[in-house]
Amino acid sequence: MEVVIVPDAKAGGELIAEAVAQLLRRKPDALLGVATGSTPLPVYEALTAKVRAGELDASAARIAQLDEYVGLPAGHPESYRATVLREVVEPLGLGPGSFMGPDGSAEDVQAACAAYDAALASAGGVDLQLLGIGTDGHIGFNEPCSSLASRTRIKTLTEQTIKDNARFFDGDVGQVPRHVITQGIGTILEARHLVLLATGEGKADAVAATVEGPVAAVVPASALQRHPHATVVVDEAAASKLKLADYFRHTYTNKPEWQGL
Ligand code: GLP
Repeated sequence: MEVVIVPDAKAGGELIAEAVAQLLRRKPDALLGVATGSTPLPVYEALTAKVRAGELDASAARIAQLDEYVGLPAGHPESYRATVLREVVEPLGLGPGSFMGPDGSAEDVQAACAAYDAALASAGGVDLQLLGIGTDGHIGFNEPCSSLASRTRIKTLTEQTIKDNARFFDGDVGQVPRHVITQGIGTILEARHLVLLATGEGKADAVAATVEGPVAAVVPASALQRHPHATVVVDEAAASKLKLADYFRHTYTNKPEWQGL
């Protein structure tokens, strides 16, 4: 896994947006897996700026959702489908046809999970999956002790995640759905390139466990250690508990430019 320490969230967003831009120049119809939450917003902003400045043609890009709440009415503004359409698909000028995601309001949730897992594979697989990280080390909504081989399925949120996400529901934990659909860790690991962005001191423990701890289901993001092309981009605050921070700085400073992320 490569760890890149950037000065702040904006720099992280720009770095990752450039990696996405390089991918789209190479493969215009690349399937981009996107995450929700506050952390990836600088990536979407930087990408949108490139498109608006005419530096990047993203018109053939395809977007895949990572996870979804179960039981919110279709079109609910905090559903991840609505969030991804608002934060990624529309700003990039893409149509709804370019987007795929699990159906969180399906009657048969298990069938919806299996259908989404299969749809990702038949779309050719995710080229670049952007990930955030929960304070408990979750990726997508794979909470601690999720199987490292898991597929897209229904999960129950931990109390910590419900509290963390209440800010999107008027601060009311009672409004946060208890159940979610998430790509499994095994599903996520099938993406060709994983890029995890973490910013802020609140993520420092989770980042240290992910990067320098053992591969363990109790820290779902540590599964990235098993991926042949995983990049972890962290700001100084999120990097503050990494013992090997100086080593990561040294290797990135001396990296051949042509390699990109
Ligand atoms: C949610 C999402 C994750 C995201 C996490 C962190 O739980 N399911 O994909 O990484 O929130 O969110 P934030 O970036 O807002 O801290």
